[in-house]
Amino acid sequence: MQNMETLGSVSTLQSRRIILFPLPFQGHINPMLQLANILHTRGFKITIIHAEYNSPNPSNYPHLTFKPIKDHLSKVAHEYPTNRDGTYFVRYLNKSCVDTFTDCLAGLLAEPGEERVACVITDACFYVTQAVADDMKLPRIVLRTSSLGCNLAYEALPFYSKTGSFYLTKQVDRFEVLVPEYPLLKFKDIAKITINPQGMGDLATNMLNQMKASSGIIWNTFKELEESDLETLSRDFPVPSFTLGPFHKYFPASSSSLIEQDRTILSWLDKQPPKSVVYASFGSVAQINESEFQEVAHGLANIGLPFLWVVRPGMVVGSEWLESLPENFLERMGDRGRIVKWSPQQEVLDHPATGCFWTHNGWNSTLESICEGVPMICSPCLGDQPINARYVSDVWKIGVFLEDGFERVGIEMAIKRVMMGKEGGEMRKRISCFKEKKVASAAYLVATTRGVLGLGDLVLQPWVNLSLAEGGSSCRSLNNLVDYISSF
Ligand code: UDX
Repeated sequence: MQNMETLGSVSTLQSRRIILFPLPFQGHINPMLQLANILHTRGFKITIIHAEYNSPNPSNYPHLTFKPIKDHLSKVAHEYPTNRDGTYFVRYLNKSCVDTFTDCLAGLLAEPGEERVACVITDACFYVTQAVADDMKLPRIVLRTSSLGCNLAYEALPFYSKTGSFYLTKQVDRFEVLVPEYPLLKFKDIAKITINPQGMGDLATNMLNQMKASSGIIWNTFKELEESDLETLSRDFPVPSFTLGPFHKYFPASSSSLIEQDRTILSWLDKQPPKSVVYASFGSVAQINESEFQEVAHGLANIGLPFLWVVRPGMVVGSEWLESLPENFLERMGDRGRIVKWSPQQEVLDHPATGCFWTHNGWNSTLESICEGVPMICSPCLGDQPINARYVSDVWKIGVFLEDGFERVGIEMAIKRVMMGKEGGEMRKRISCFKEKKVASAAYLVATTRGVLGLGDLVLQPWVNLSLAEGGSSCRSLNNLVDYISSF
């Protein structure tokens, strides 16, 4: 998209093949396929080994080669709607895919007449692939689909010891207290990260260790957004790091959508006043219960603003779709509110009518909101989401954290703070797009995001554009990555 010219020309040096292996969930498939396209544009041939579960549609990518492997996930997938332990499926996949991945990779390496394979790039959550790559003497680069901050938090929190697990999750009377190991977080945030600290400890330890053992890490973030964390990270992870995000600014995610996007809402958005619409979406895995769902509905109804609400089928525990809406909700809302199963999110966030994003703070959603200059209301559910939410509300100060869950009065107050109050105006200034803005120094941005400076002229969005432009940090990082892979 805007950055096509900075993707550079195809060099004859790069007729090499890269093998990619995404984790089969929407928030991981999107950035991996975006990365595949970025690297293809730089002249690499791309093969994607993928699980049969949530298979991407190869016909959307005729320029890429797809190799499905058995994942055996169907054996446990029926537990998906009720199993709130996010780590369970990832740990399962690491066991169930290792043999099929190994066979497929060995087969690809043995194919005659093919371009030489430079490396394999796997999702960081597929930690078992490091040993497979080592056995085959193939460099493995990792794609980490979360923020730098999330990884530092995972590294700092003592999930992995029995005492640590207990200490992190059973401190009900200390829920408001900051966690000494990572004082950006409160104990109640930890309780949200996982319901299974032991499982989380397993996953985080394996993932982080195998990231450190890899040949490099690709991050879907940009240097200016997480500059101080990048410094810490380069100390803790002694392998090359490439921060070339935000990926969706090179390629949108729509073609990797697992659910069909409802595009009819774009014409509805066209009819709404500028910055008037509350966009609510809680991503591809988060679930809420029936009473939380009803509180969301009442909150949206009571605020009196137009709203667009994504209710993914299966998002409400025990419901197919909208059965548990309050009585006559849709009739009462009329044209003021629209509910869809899945939206073209990046276009919605980019639409002039969108005023705020009520989000679960998945990293893709958070980054997309930052890029389009839309302030957030944060309702994280699990995994990295509470950590991202803390950065949004407490570090970058571009959103309001609904800390105490879904409750209609709190919801109305949060929406008002972002959409109507002075505070919301300040958030909007911090995040909004000032295309004509003069270039500020990176030091200024870092000082401001650390809270050393006041609001002043801080805006995040110009940094997105600057980082992607020729000579910008993400552009340079991409060039470095291309050179690095070409050197294998
Ligand atoms: C989860 C984790 O929460 C996330 O932090 C991790 O990095 C990946 O897995 P998920 O729930 O899928 O993520 O959310 P998110 O990371 O925000 O990704 C969702 C993607 O789906 C985004 O790219 C978003 O644009 C897209 N989307 C979402 C749509 O296209 N339409 C929708 O209606 C909702």
